[in-house]
Amino acid sequence: MTTIDAPLASARRAFAAYPSLKGKCAFVTGGATGIGAAMVQAYADQGVTVGFIDIAEKQGQQLCQQIIETGGAAWFRRVDVTDIAALQAAIAEFSDAMGPVDILVNNVANDTRHAMQDLTPEGWNQSFDVNLRPAFFAIQAVAETMIARKQGSIVNFGSISWKAKVDSMPAYTTAKAALHGLTRSFVKPLGAAGVRINTVLPGWVMTDRQIALHLDAEGEVFLQANQPLAGRITPEDAAAMALFLSADDSAMCTGQEFSVDGGWI
Ligand SMILES: NC(=O)c1ccc[n+]([C@@H]2O[C@H](COP(=O)([O-])OP(=O)(O)OC[C@H]3O[C@@H](n4cnc5c(N)ncnc54)[C@H](O)[C@@H]3O)[C@@H](O)[C@H]2O)c1
Repeated sequence: MTTIDAPLASARRAFAAYPSLKGKCAFVTGGATGIGAAMVQAYADQGVTVGFIDIAEKQGQQLCQQIIETGGAAWFRRVDVTDIAALQAAIAEFSDAMGPVDILVNNVANDTRHAMQDLTPEGWNQSFDVNLRPAFFAIQAVAETMIARKQGSIVNFGSISWKAKVDSMPAYTTAKAALHGLTRSFVKPLGAAGVRINTVLPGWVMTDRQIALHLDAEGEVFLQANQPLAGRITPEDAAAMALFLSADDSAMCTGQEFSVDGGWI
């Protein structure tokens, strides 16, 4: 069996700097923990003014304060994205306070595992209310202004789970597959104005939550059996892809899916 290395500390790695991101405004859903928090920090490190929302209020406020105290520009509100009016109001409030959204990252999700037989119609809807619906309504809130300003990049967070035929969370997996359709349905109306939209497909990213809930002995075996590339995927790896897709360096990429999965699929 191949030995998986300990996660590479981001401090030991040299990530790219993107001059085109400096001074931009980004809005990240579900940005208080996990990959979202890594993205909030990564955008701030690039000189981006970053707004984010989450139900994890304490972590969100801590991250926001930490960025501001170290010279960055951040804005946080506690918002439950199942409340579409509150989601759109937060985007409007951020834009009024900090500037129009140049970069929208639809990151929020809930991948709670469940047995197929236990899923109720209400549970199905609750999953879609977090894993799919907010992405459409966040895009709706920023699209008009992005088109009018002829600039913008939208990054939707999908998942490799539906490609990998994962069967432990069917509503989540279906919603994540649908995100690709959502991405592609906006390519033409946005593209005419030079606005881009892409999907990022993370593999198994070792957030604190994933490690705590799923990286037991069985999880290690599962990881080693499915991820050919040595090492563990960190939240910073996913954030690096989001930065690239937001920067001028990816200017002619739209409607595509970009996997960060260590070769899993
Ligand atoms: N971590 C992985 O291995 C992995 C794998 C494939 C895809 N992804 C995708 O990448 C993205 C980020 O993954 P993650 O592991 O950091 O996700 P996560 O589930 O750990 O975190 C998502 C964030 O959303 C917040 N959130 C949940 N419900 C909310 C609600 N109703 N309103 C507002 N905020 C809410 C959580 O508090 C959390 O901060 C997600 O879209 C996820 O589906 C992750």
